[in-house]
Amino acid sequence: MIILASDHAGFQLKEEIKKFFNKENIIAIDVGCYSREQLDDYPDFAKAGNAKVLEDPRNVGIFICGTGIGMSIVANRNPKIRAALCLNEEFASLARKHNDANVLCLSGRFTSARKAIKIVKIFLTTDFEGGRHARRIKKY
Ligand code: RB5
Repeated sequence: MIILASDHAGFQLKEEIKKFFNKENIIAIDVGCYSREQLDDYPDFAKAGNAKVLEDPRNVGIFICGTGIGMSIVANRNPKIRAALCLNEEFASLARKHNDANVLCLSGRFTSARKAIKIVKIFLTTDFEGGRHARRIKKY
């Protein structure tokens, strides 16, 4: 299952990603926020997203704030979460291949919807390579 989370600054991009998922019949759970009003705080949604992601080891998260930085910092405070802030497709590919990232963080302010959807597609379809990378991940 794909878990979506954002604050107000990531809300619009999250809506665009949801439109893409609907078109592709991809099911996702949105843990908020549910408006673009600036009344919310990204740590609340990163924590809610983490909790949902950790319900099943097959789950992945897509967390969005203004830069993606706040979401990634908070998400990574949970030792079972490997959140990667990705600004391009190469980062998304390597975050999966080398880091086995289970949360993709995106920037609502600096990444266009078109680019974000490309990044999401790569993130969701790239496998972890294991091997020496698995050894390294055990040391996190
Ligand atoms: C909210 O203004 C902004 O600080 C937040 O979305 C995020 O970019 C934090 O890292």
